[in-house]
This record gives sequence, structure tokens and C-alpha cells, in this order.
Amino acid sequence: MKIILIGFMGAGKSFFAKRLAERLGLESIEMDKLVLEKSGRANIKEIFEKDGEIKFRELEIEIAKELQEKNDVVIDTGGGVVLNKIILDYLKKDGVVVFLNSSLEIIEKRFQDDKTRPLWQDKEKFRQLHKWRLPLYQQYADVEVDTSWPLFFIPNGKSHEMTPEAEKILEEITKKITLV
Ligand code: S3P
Repeated sequence: MKIILIGFMGAGKSFFAKRLAERLGLESIEMDKLVLEKSGRANIKEIFEKDGEIKFRELEIEIAKELQEKNDVVIDTGGGVVLNKIILDYLKKDGVVVFLNSSLEIIEKRFQDDKTRPLWQDKEKFRQLHKWRLPLYQQYADVEVDTSWPLFFIPNGKSHEMTPEAEKILEEITKKITLV
């Protein structure tokens, strides 16, 4: 089984990729991490600043190609993978594409203090991107799930506990992927 999670930044892709993989006994793969390793840079922001966005997108394509034969995985994609059709062509081979959709309002709340995402720094551009990309995610999705809910809380200041809403979303994803 291969599950590909797509969606805008902050929609919960990394959050659900890990938990879904755990629940289904699959490996969780984070594309951003692989891109970063390939880039030799310290973080994603630095790739954008020093090498430019085009270089970042080229690396994403390379990683997608390397992942095309992977199985028994949940792939946590970067929010921009829908910009290059070839990425989804590589990734979705024998896989189910799940679109995690969070409202812009919720995403902005989740990102309030985020300094790491290069595309969040210009808020107007960020909002435009969200609007432009929505139909792209929908076009590639086999399944869509609304993730505009609180996903976790931190009871002891350390570990992130899932909210009941997040539990429900996880159930919904699990159910929907078996119906495809
Ligand atoms: C991007 C999303 C980021 C990361 C990069 C570009 C985008 O990943 O790949 O900053 O273009 O939407 P997340 O969606 O995991 O934040």
C-alpha cells in the first residue's frame, strides 16, 4: 500500500503521515527532509534564499523520481508538489492520493509564530498561493478530508497528544482509502 498526502502548508500532512504510518504498519517518508539532505543546506529557507525556488523544485522532482517504486509507505509531500505534474505522476504510481484540506484561517492560526517556512513570510503571496493551489490539490486527489480542526494539545509541555477531532480524521482517512 502507498498513501500520498498532499495539501497546503499547515494542513497537517506531517502530523497525519506519522500517525497513519504507525496505525497501518507502514514507513513514513517526509519529502522535505529528503530534499534538504540532497541540497546540502541547513534548512528549507536557506535553499530558497541561496539556491532559489527553482532549484528547490528540481530537487523535489528528483526525490519523487527516486520514490516512484517505493511501496508500503505514507509519503508526506511538500505543499508545492502539485506545481509540477511530473511529481504526482511519479508518486501516485499504485498509490492513493489523499488531499488534507484546512481552511486558510486555521492555517494562519497554526503558523502565527512560524519563521521557518519561506513562503509564509509574505502573507499576501501566501494567501494567493492557497487560492491558486486549491483546484490543483482537488484535481490530483482520490480522496479529500477536512483537517480544519485542532489537531493536538500538549498536556505535559512535552509530547503532543491527538485531539478527539484528529482521531476522527485519522479514522476517516483510513476508511476512505480502503474505498478507492
Ligand atoms: C512549500 C511547502 C513546504 C516546503 C517548502 C515549499 C510550498 O512544505 O516544501 O517550504 O511550496 O507549499 P510543507 O507543506 O510541509 O510546509
